[in-house]
Amino acid sequence: MSVVTIARQGEIATVTVDNPPVNALGLALRQGLWDAVATLDADPAVRAVVLICAGRTFIAGADVTEFGKPPVAPHLPDLVARIESAEKPWIAAIHGSALGGGFEVALGCRFRVALPEASVGLPEVTLGIIPGAGGTVRTPRLCGVATAVDMATTGKPMRAPKALAAGLIDAVIEGDLLTGAVEFARAAIAQPLPLPVSQRGIEAPEAGFWAEAEASVAKSAKGAAAPARALAAIRKAAEAPFDEAMGFERTTFLELRGTEQAAALRAVFFAERAAPRPAALRDVAPLPLKTVAVIGGGTMGAGIIAALRDAGLPVILIERDDEAVARGLANVAKVFDGGVKRGKLSEAQARALKDGVTGTTDYAALPDVDMVIEAVFEEIGVKRAVFAQLGVVCRADAVLATNTSYLDPRAIAEGLPNPSRFIGLHFFSPANVMKLLEIVPTPQTSARTLATGFALGRLLKKIPVRSGICEGFIGNRILKRYRAAAEGLVRKGVPIARIDAAMRGHGLAMGPFEAQDLGGLDIAYLQREGARAAGQDVPETLGDILVRAGRKGQKTGGGWYDYAAGERKPLISDQVAQLLAAEIAPPSAMTEPEIAQALVAEMAAEGQAILDEGIAASPADIDLVKIHGYGFPRWRGGPMFATRVRE
Ligand code: 3HC
Ligand code: NAI
Repeated sequence: MSVVTIARQGEIATVTVDNPPVNALGLALRQGLWDAVATLDADPAVRAVVLICAGRTFIAGADVTEFGKPPVAPHLPDLVARIESAEKPWIAAIHGSALGGGFEVALGCRFRVALPEASVGLPEVTLGIIPGAGGTVRTPRLCGVATAVDMATTGKPMRAPKALAAGLIDAVIEGDLLTGAVEFARAAIAQPLPLPVSQRGIEAPEAGFWAEAEASVAKSAKGAAAPARALAAIRKAAEAPFDEAMGFERTTFLELRGTEQAAALRAVFFAERAAPRPAALRDVAPLPLKTVAVIGGGTMGAGIIAALRDAGLPVILIERDDEAVARGLANVAKVFDGGVKRGKLSEAQARALKDGVTGTTDYAALPDVDMVIEAVFEEIGVKRAVFAQLGVVCRADAVLATNTSYLDPRAIAEGLPNPSRFIGLHFFSPANVMKLLEIVPTPQTSARTLATGFALGRLLKKIPVRSGICEGFIGNRILKRYRAAAEGLVRKGVPIARIDAAMRGHGLAMGPFEAQDLGGLDIAYLQREGARAAGQDVPETLGDILVRAGRKGQKTGGGWYDYAAGERKPLISDQVAQLLAAEIAPPSAMTEPEIAQALVAEMAAEGQAILDEGIAASPADIDLVKIHGYGFPRWRGGPMFATRVRE
């Protein structure tokens, strides 16, 4: 079947695009639309054309799978120009998302109408490129440079009502999109037509606008190259004639498409889409999830409850005593009240979210729940006692999950009747924000239980990654190696602050020592002490020396750095220098890029060991873990991607 079909409703023709899954602009679609312009221009009975899409969305952009291949005509900029110069006005009727090349096609149309929940956007920077078919040149002609800069440099989509107010679309259609668009077309051809977008002018921004925008984009891009290039393209559009700006945009687009950053971001794009649906589970039906219980309403429990409520699931919270129930519910309320303060939620929405949580100490509330997620203290005895009760009260098919960070899930599940329903679901803090969900089956876990873990991941809009069992699973195990390697560099005489600066320079939000000061050094210290007490040979770390001197991080006024009272700015510490003096070699000349390369290589080496042991299924899974759980810069593709490219 053709991806483009034409129908006529009197003097209005409809062109329907049907190219699943997301109507991406592959060659067949570009050619189909190209031919449709010719067909309809040649039809004297047609006075206007409605462009509408079948399936879940309007055209979602260029076909990203074509990016590695040489471009084939008709090229997208030519197609957009052809639609724009058609003899009959085209009206884009948008549902779902009109993104990238899809929005550029809509910009070639004389009018754009959209359903209220539809959105438009230029997400190209998230793929390491900029728009390549007029997005940076036509968008500012409709909404002005400030809005265009925001859209093209952040890649964030805009909902229809806001797009209407900004001038990017001409009407929001309530009810049936096709009916509304055809009505809109009839009314439009009864009036004089507006100019095609390319022929409209751009108002010059206020003095100082570009310098300010450049500074702000440089800051927020954190090393990603595309946002600054998108800004430059919009500036060109504002300062040069249309054709020159189009040429500038296309050259930049083609150049960026071949960069390592673009390749990395494309790899992440496809890995993120593959992760929630592992091939091995394709034919396994998950248990439908209608109600979930969470045991423990502390830091993690409250965040997990917030994530479940955001996905619309009613939740039962079980705590140790009435006081802890109240504290747990207050922890959850704090999350939603924060949403109200930031303008993300209305009071009524926050109330409804809170009302969906029932707090109790009584396990008798659990016989009907489909899943239980345990987030109590990280102590094997406490966790086992919880699962012993769950094993008695829960339905035999209910999935029972632990959020343990370091304990062995097999040990937690020992003695549980029907252990095939048991699984590790390792969330990251704050659990309602962080995208990563490590899914840790035991040898007894059934395929259905595993599939339910992934289904939960999809429901919560997380990036679920399967991990085998080892200390720290995938993410914390690599973190441990990374931190140890960073300490190793300190011992070799590399200044602490230079190591942190090197990793920030690499694109991480924080270096390894700043991050430890924020989270606290004592948790890892206690863990090491526990292992030592259990007879394991755990060598003394530099962190141990600091904790023993009372330096546990920001909360004690100092860790690897000093902090002024109430301040978060790390200050180089003389006391740390003295405490560690005996352990540290004379100053090293290692540069920041050398430091970053060495530490990423350590992460990659641990990643390779994890792969060799079968703990992770693929290098891409490891990269997703580091990007979505540990702030590794997305545009570098992850520690494994970086190594693959260098090889
Ligand atoms: N090209 C090729 N395949 C694409 C694609 C694209 N642009 N966008 C999505 N897909 C594929 C996905 O890989 C996935 O494939 P799979 O089923 O085999 O895993 C399938 O379509 C469905 O994707 P999602 O799971 O993401 O579907 P959702 O319904 O959750 O989301 C969407 C739909 C919002 C459209 C989302 O897919 C999306 O954001 N897509 C990317 C849009 C984008 O970045 N467009 C710009 C492309 S660059 C460009 O246009 C350059 C131009 O300026 C020249
Ligand atoms: P927390 O100390 O903030 O919360 C634990 C909660 O469990 C407390 O509210 C406590 O009252 C409750 N609790 C203890 N025993 C209980 C019992 N028998 N029945 C019901 N409730 C009980 O701890 P946090 O940080 O939330 O950690 C919980 C679990 O999540 C641990 O296993 C931890 O390793 C894991 N985890 C923690 C992360 C973090 O960043 N804090 C990240 C990922 C996992």
